Amino acid sequence: MNVIFMGPPGAGKGTQAEKIVDKFQIPHISTGDMFRAALEAKTPLGLKAKEYMDAGALVPDDVTIGIVEERLGQDDCKKGFLLDGFPRTVAQADALTGLLEKLKVRMQGVLNIEVDEAVLLSRLAGRRICQKCGVSYHMVFIPPVKEGVCDKCGGDLYQRNDDSLETAKKRLGVYHQQTQPLISYYQKKGLLKSIQGDQATDKVFEDILVSLAPDS
Ligand code: AP5
Ligand code: MG
Ligand code: ZN
Repeated sequence: MNVIFMGPPGAGKGTQAEKIVDKFQIPHISTGDMFRAALEAKTPLGLKAKEYMDAGALVPDDVTIGIVEERLGQDDCKKGFLLDGFPRTVAQADALTGLLEKLKVRMQGVLNIEVDEAVLLSRLAGRRICQKCGVSYHMVFIPPVKEGVCDKCGGDLYQRNDDSLETAKKRLGVYHQQTQPLISYYQKKGLLKSIQGDQATDKVFEDILVSLAPDS
């Protein structure tokens, strides 16, 4: 299965991606996670990406397209993949179209997860992530059993730098300007499927599975 998860910051792309990856055992390719891992490892890519991420801006297209091209060329992607947070600009989408043609890969669909803006801001403000395994929680909506500690692995939970209210608002603005145009881009290609993201996580997942069924 080859799918793309699109949607504004906080829509639940990462949360739903974990469930898909568990069920279908395909790689989860999140450009945001790749940049954060590069930053953690203090590589030149990570340090360059940090400037943009901390400002709530997009990392330049050439850099982002380059890392995705390299990742999709790896062997584990032959069994399928889930792209989360890529593409985010028309230039990235065009590059991906060319890349998939080259790899002779067909997309099953582009799932656009929709959630109202006010809900998005409260999701981002309350998000906490496990330092060790990367699972996301929400202090109010999806709290861990013990505050500040991951249920799955016991790791410490942290807050992303770019989840401050000010930066979250900037990210939403960038989404409207640069990423929203991709909705009609993929609609025209007949690939777009809309998912109502403001429901319980299990219900969102059910809807995703229905939309990925071969005859839907
Ligand atoms: P990235 O890491 O991709 O962030 P994003 O797109 O802003 O999306 P988020 O990760 O914030 O949201 P999500 O949809 O994954 O939500 P989640 O599931 O965590 O990108 C970060 C930065 O990297 C960018 O700003 C940019 O600088 C750079 N970058 C990345 N990709 C790039 C690209 N292609 N080009 C250029 N630059 C790029 O959920 C959010 C919260 O809500 C969590 O707390 C969760 O527990 C909770 N939640 C989830 N679902 C539900 C539900 N159904 N009900 C209640 N709460 C829920
Ligand atoms: Mg995410
Ligand atoms: Zn953990």
